[in-house]
Amino acid sequence: MSAHEHLIETYRKKAKHYDVTSRLYPAPGYPQRSQRLRAVGALGLHPGDTVVDVACGTGLNFALIQDAIGPEGRIVGVDLTDAMLAQAEERIAHNGWRNVRLEQADAATFEFPTEVDGILSTYALSQVPECAAVIAHGAAALVPGGRLSVLDLKVPAKTPRWLAHIGTAAVRPFASIDEWIGRRPWEAIRASMQENLTDVTWHELCFGTAFLTTGSSALTATTS
Ligand SMILES: C[S@@+](CC[C@H](N)C(=O)[O-])C[C@H]1O[C@@H](n2cnc3c(N)ncnc32)[C@H](O)[C@@H]1O
Repeated sequence: MSAHEHLIETYRKKAKHYDVTSRLYPAPGYPQRSQRLRAVGALGLHPGDTVVDVACGTGLNFALIQDAIGPEGRIVGVDLTDAMLAQAEERIAHNGWRNVRLEQADAATFEFPTEVDGILSTYALSQVPECAAVIAHGAAALVPGGRLSVLDLKVPAKTPRWLAHIGTAAVRPFASIDEWIGRRPWEAIRASMQENLTDVTWHELCFGTAFLTTGSSALTATTS
């Protein structure tokens, strides 16, 4: 089974109960909602804006985004797992939102629409080995002054490898946690943000177990 197939299988099993079980993620009582609010707030959205939610899952960010962009705005939700998108579809129908489009795609090869005001990815981009390229593609799709925010988990600095393994045992979202710890994707995400965006901020959250990074596309085109 390929890594993609494995990931899709894993999230197919989680999809139906994801909204409930994710409240225990990465640990019971983890301030996930306040982190999501902060990530959406960092986008500085306005009514009418277009936002892409990369690896949107069941759409747990959609209501927060809707509050900022209103019915005249637009959300594009992208995810690899059909069953997660099916749950997102139910959320959209339940809320009567007519301004959300879902697309089943690999974030690594997804073609962003043009003229995007905000791009968000929460608790997901570190699972994408090509996370640096996703940020580069997203940055290229932003309007001048548009913003991209990534909220995700990380291993706190100075945590020995053996402790990281114990600490993440409870949160194993998929079998390749060893690969995740070894790859240190938050470092690639940080480097790509700095390479592709301006005014990049980096905040460590909850004792360094998560990070929120935000950057903007340049307000004026650069000439070489
Ligand atoms: C932990 S869930 C997070 C979902 C949502 N962003 C949230 O905050 O609740 C991770 C999601 O990433 C998706 N995902 C993982 N790798 C992906 C990829 N390469 N392209 C698109 N989606 C991916 C999974 O299908 C899953 O829905």
